[in-house]
Amino acid sequence: MIAIVVGTNRKNSVSRQVANYYSQILDQKGAENRIVDLVDIPDDFVGTALYENNGRNESFNTLREKVQSSDKIVFIVPEYNGSFPGILKAFIDGLKYPEGVRDKKGALIGVSSGVQGGVLAMAHLTDILNYLGMNVLALKPKLAGIESNFTDGKVTNDLYNQLLNDQANRLIEF
Ligand SMILES: Cc1cc2nc3c(=O)[nH]c(=O)nc-3n(C[C@H](O)[C@H](O)[C@H](O)COP(=O)(O)O)c2cc1C
Repeated sequence: MIAIVVGTNRKNSVSRQVANYYSQILDQKGAENRIVDLVDIPDDFVGTALYENNGRNESFNTLREKVQSSDKIVFIVPEYNGSFPGILKAFIDGLKYPEGVRDKKGALIGVSSGVQGGVLAMAHLTDILNYLGMNVLALKPKLAGIESNFTDGKVTNDLYNQLLNDQANRLIEF
């Protein structure tokens, strides 16, 4: 099972739409997958699911279990303030430790309005995932200028499509 994590809790995010598109790519290749959207994180999780409350918030547990029980995880990483969203770090902080993502295989896709395509965001996140024992695929597509390259739920840029397909093939073989 491949979990596709939408790395923001912003409602109607472009990252969610990119997750839907990537899910279709995996479907076409016959790879079982499911989307885990951080928009579903319960609003009170900071006070009820972290630190001494780790594991005590049932809604948060349901969400994190979808990630922890998957052997491969794709992170859709929107670029926020030159990095990845704080909610994603908080979600990672609420996973089981140390086994949360240890020995799992991961893949990252960066999404940004600007020209960087989340390159720094993915570098920051890779450091953390490696620290936690996840093996992260080297090919990390950077979907820069997303507003000009994604329309009606589809990536319209040929190079981006090639990179996403390449990555999906590599992830399936990973
Ligand atoms: C809080 C916040 C910070 C952002 N910072 C950046 C940024 O540093 N660089 C950039 O290119 N785009 C930035 N953006 C724009 C997002 O990359 C853009 O909205 C893109 O669609 C991905 O985010 P989304 O999944 O929330 O839609 C930011 C957006 C938000 C909400």
